Parts: sequence; C-alpha cells; structure tokens
Amino acid sequence: MAIPNIVHVVGARPNFMKAAPVIRALQAFPVSQRLIHTGQHYDPELSDVFFEQLRLPAPDANLAVGSGSHAAQTAALMLAIEHEFLRFDPTAVAAYGDVNSTMAAALVAAKLGIAVAHVESGLRSFDTQMPEEINRRVTDLLADWLFVTAPEGLENLRAEGVPDSRLWYVGNPMIDSLVTVLPGIDDEVGGRPFAAEPYAVATVHRPSNVDDPDAARSVARMLQATAALLQVVIPLHPRGRSTLMAAGLRPSARLRIVTPLGYREFIALVRRAAVVVTDSGGLQEETTFLGTPCLTIRTTTERPCTITHGTNRLVSPEEVPAAVARILAGGRPATRALPPLWDGQAGTRIASILADLVGGHRGL
Ligand code: UD1
Repeated sequence: MAIPNIVHVVGARPNFMKAAPVIRALQAFPVSQRLIHTGQHYDPELSDVFFEQLRLPAPDANLAVGSGSHAAQTAALMLAIEHEFLRFDPTAVAAYGDVNSTMAAALVAAKLGIAVAHVESGLRSFDTQMPEEINRRVTDLLADWLFVTAPEGLENLRAEGVPDSRLWYVGNPMIDSLVTVLPGIDDEVGGRPFAAEPYAVATVHRPSNVDDPDAARSVARMLQATAALLQVVIPLHPRGRSTLMAAGLRPSARLRIVTPLGYREFIALVRRAAVVVTDSGGLQEETTFLGTPCLTIRTTTERPCTITHGTNRLVSPEEVPAAVARILAGGRPATRALPPLWDGQAGTRIASILADLVGGHRGL
C-alpha cells in the first residue's frame, strides 16, 4: 500500500507558527509530507525568518503568488495550488488559520476530491466585513476534518450543524511554537535601549484600521497619545506603513517604528512589555499565554477565550491611552486559567489523529 501523502499549505506569516508543530510531530508517523508556500507573504521579514526560527523544512513548492486584490490573489492562489496538488497527488491537505491561502487551498482540494484538514476551525467574529471571517467560514464548510483550537470553536461549529464525527478539540499549535521558542529568548531584548523602562508593543495592520484615512488618523493619534505615557515600539507591517505615516504617525525616541521582527525577537519583546496594543488575531492568544495585558483595537474578536480566560480587552482607539494608564498603575494581572489544552502538545495531537485518518499507523 502506498504511504499516505499529506500536503501542507502555508502562505502568510500567521500560518507558519501553526504549521511547524504539526509538520514536526508528523515526522514520527509513516506518512510522507510536502510543504507548499504560496508566497502570499514574500518579504524576508514576513516569511524567511520564520522558516529559519521555527525550523520549518524548505518548501517543496514556492508559488510566489504575491499581492493583489482579494479576487486576483485568490484566483492566482487557486491556479497555482491546483497545479501542485495534481503534481503531488495528496491523500489529504492541511490548511491553517484564516488567510486567503487557507481558503484557496480548501476550495481547490475540495473540488479535486482531496480530504481537507483545517487547523484552527470554528473561530467566528460574526463580522463578514473581515476577509478572514469569510475565509474561515468557507474553509470550515469544505473541510472534512476540523481541528478546533479554542473552546468556543466547538460551540460555533455545532451551532452550524457540523457533526461531532468531524470535530476534534486539540488545543492550540500556535502555543506549541511559543513554548518551543521561549527558552533563552530574553537575550533578544535585554540589550535594547528601551528595555530598561516599561514599554508598550503596538502592531496594526487590519484593513479596518489602516486602509481608511479617517481610521488611520485615529490610530496614529492613539499611538502618539500612548507614547506620552510610556515608550512605544511598533514593528510595522508593510500594509499600514504609508497610510499611517500619511495620517500623521511620527517616529521619535519614545515612539520607535521598526521593521517587522522575527518570531524570537517579537515574542521576547511581547513577553517583557507592560502592555500590547494590537489588531492582530494571533497576538491576542500569545499575550493570553504570556500574561501580558492586551488591548485589541477592534469591535469584535473571533477569540473570546482570550478575554474570558486571558488578558485581552476590546477597546476603541480613543479608549487606549486611559486603559494603558490604568494598566501601568495596576501592573500585570494575576494569572488565570489558560484555555483547555493550550499546553504545547497540540501538534502531537493533530499529527496522531491526522495520521490515523489518512490510514497511517501509530509511529515510533
Ligand atoms: C494577511 C492576512 C491576515 C493576516 C496577515 C498577517 C488575508 C486576507 N489577510 O494580511 O489575515 O492577519 O496576513 O500578516 O489573507 N505586503 C508586503 N510584503 C509581503 C506581503 C504583503 O509588502 O510580503 C503588502 C502588500 O502591499 C500587500 C499588502 O501588504 O498588498 C497586504 O498583503 P496581503 O497578503 O493581501 O494581506 P495582509 O494585510 O498581509
């Protein structure tokens, strides 16, 4: 019998830390693996540095689809992915998270009759203005095997009528990567000039915060006002750079705008931060695990367990300076219980289930 062949599809920065633990754990099973990098993210600091630091294998195919409108990018992704699926003939495809590459991989696989495993199933912001919400819903609709990483994911999928026979609650592989990288990372920040005092880390890249000039102005004002309270370090995603600068964001000694950081450097920075201000999805989870207070400048979250279990709060840009002042006065919150199975072992659980599903046998 031929060895089952699992093809992983990754394309954008948040995919890499979710896929790495699964790929690593699957190496203990008698399955072959292929890795496709779609090239949705292509800048070295959004891609190559993560491959190195997470020890991801070199991709078997690099599709270099690059940027474009949603339709243009998704179409380019689908054409290029179809070509590789026909070449690699997967037993199953593993897709991660909620980016355009995830949805494109699920659509192509489903139409070729290839089983789809979705890692990070069931998250819902219930805001279809977010491209990620559309990607999540489409991917979950098409997926055969849904790996759920946060407790609310199970409720959401059951409410949508997904039978329990297709659901597995496995914990969060993003936390696996975090746990793996933690030893020794404090050195990454220790020598930096701002590290002697309390500092905030801010990241902002959502279309709703950076594409519209009014929204970008309000975010820029918020960041300047926060810098009056403490030092702010902003590893700026390329998406928001020009609009935020046009909206009045000005670097200074207290407001440091830096290029996107590698995974180790970034996690080290966040771990020691007094507060994080962000619109990222993954960072809400990472701050929950690290116990760093997090202010999310969005009106919804697909990750409510980061509020109920973790350190996260949803705020408007206008509310940020007062919320930061309160956090500075109150210190880090006491540790609460983490969401179930955010224990660094999610990749092993996913690998074991996936290997069984594709017909592999328990490994070494
Ligand atoms: C994508 C994901 C988002 C995720 C984010 C993490 C979708 C719909 N969005 O958003 O969910 O939170 O990644 O970073 O899949 N660009 C570069 N270099 C790159 C890639 C992009 O400069 O390597 C610039 C281009 O101007 C591009 C823009 O960023 O047009 C947006 O890139 P895109 O991949 O469309 O979405 P992100 O905003 O990065």
